[in-house]
Amino acid sequence: MPLATRRPRRLLLPGLLAFALLSAGLAVARADEEQPAFEPDAQRGYRHMLDKGFVPSTLDKEVLENLWQAWPEEERAEAEKADAKTRRKLVFARYGFTQRPDDPDGPPLQLAVTKAGGYHINCFTCHGGQVAGREQPGLPNAHIALQSLVEDVRTVRRKLGRPIRASDIAASMIPHGNTVGTTNAVVFSIVLLQFRDKDLNVVPPQRRLRLPHHDLDAPPWWHYKRRTHLYIDGFTPVGHRSLMQFILVPQNSREKVREYENDFKDIEAWIKTVEAPKYPYPIDTKLAASGEKVFRASCASCHGTYGEGGGYPNRLVPIAKLGTDRARLDAILTSDRETYSKSWFTNYDPKGVRTDPGGYVAPPLDGIWASAPYLHNGAVPTLHHLLFPDERPKVWRRSPTGYDTERVGLQVETAEKVPESKTKHERRQWFDTTGHGKSAAGHDFPAKLSKPQRRALLEYLKTL
Ligand code: HEC
Ligand code: HEC
Repeated sequence: MPLATRRPRRLLLPGLLAFALLSAGLAVARADEEQPAFEPDAQRGYRHMLDKGFVPSTLDKEVLENLWQAWPEEERAEAEKADAKTRRKLVFARYGFTQRPDDPDGPPLQLAVTKAGGYHINCFTCHGGQVAGREQPGLPNAHIALQSLVEDVRTVRRKLGRPIRASDIAASMIPHGNTVGTTNAVVFSIVLLQFRDKDLNVVPPQRRLRLPHHDLDAPPWWHYKRRTHLYIDGFTPVGHRSLMQFILVPQNSREKVREYENDFKDIEAWIKTVEAPKYPYPIDTKLAASGEKVFRASCASCHGTYGEGGGYPNRLVPIAKLGTDRARLDAILTSDRETYSKSWFTNYDPKGVRTDPGGYVAPPLDGIWASAPYLHNGAVPTLHHLLFPDERPKVWRRSPTGYDTERVGLQVETAEKVPESKTKHERRQWFDTTGHGKSAAGHDFPAKLSKPQRRALLEYLKTL
């Protein structure tokens, strides 16, 4: 990851503008102080994600309640005549919001609400979703429409006569996600890290920013306790500081970020408590048992074994062997990974950081039925399509909340090319695997198995 070490050279316009607009003043570097003993608390961590604004607020109650005013004619008319409850449902469906399990009538799980009344993008924006009709914090949000949300917020703020904020301008310079359910998350962190030196001081960007936009599908949090290294390329050892990249907006000074460190120890403690949900539909246990044998012979060497005595190897697989989309791998430069490895994020200890991962780590498959779509970019809608590479759709769109128990994963509609769309929001419903960073190719390992073997494997995967 890019952390600044040298004098500024060429500055790219977005970087400079964002810096000028957002910078909250430079802090002076000091030696790393001793931290007093701290006992992380998972429940407190959960509350931090719902009650704290780690980044500036994106909207407030009034804007949320008026979002429908930014919709196209037909949808707007429907929302206008709806009662409050129905309108809330329409808003939730459009942006991929779910209710909070412990406060169904409260604000969406995907926004933290502070005492001051700010509504903030939180971890659950991308890491809290629903599957088979049940919302679950820690499940990737396969329906988040982040780009549409920020665009509609801008429109409504204008309609309400609110002033343009620096963060609106900064946000408008970086795409948030071209396809519903996926986000440009890694590019956010590449950009944010450019504004920090190795001690977290806010500095102007130190090199020309490459912004290799590409969307990713968030991984489920129940993997966390199995992992030795984080992210699909497994580049950095597991630790709460890595999770703090998301809050590096220049408004958060070095002191502020450090103040938040204990909150992230709590958040990490909560992440470790997340368990994979059980498959809620019938399973053919005989077929699954034969699938388990196939799995042990053909898949376990990379993905590990499950059930009692199971183990997970955290295996990094070279991209040439894997053949899945490589945009994510190439997006982060080796030099940036090296800088990151010697920074506050690793406590200045480069040991264990992979500066040239060269591939992706085979993820654990616990609860795999629940975390569709598949592959790190979310290009494959069901497990059936993962196991039958020839059948993977070129262009597809998920249904609002449907679950496909036949193919195990998202219920989808497919097409040869993206149909004419009236609006960008409509266009973003379609996943086009021919786009940059969106390939559904690769991971052809199942293709060498017979069809009955693969059918059995599919049944077994439901049991994990
Ligand atoms: C805009 C969407 C978004 C937001 C907001 C977000 N994440 Fe993520 N997160 C992602 C994506 C996408 C990845 C996968 C990145 C990769 O593998 O390169 C990820 C990866 C992770 C992982 C690694 C899991 C693994 O198995 O490797 C953890 C843990 C995590 N995020 C925690 C958090 C926390 C905690 C927050 C809030 C402070 C947060 N995320 C906010 C999108 C998001
Ligand atoms: C050589 C190692 C290797 C073998 C063998 C292998 N996989 Fe994978 N698998 C991976 C890697 C690496 C990924 C991540 C690829 C990506 O996201 O780009 C992956 C991804 C997956 C995913 C998607 C995970 C997710 O969360 O999106 C599933 C499901 C899966 N593999 C199942 C299987 C099955 C079933 C087999 C046996 C037929 C198998 N794999 C064999 C390495 C392997």
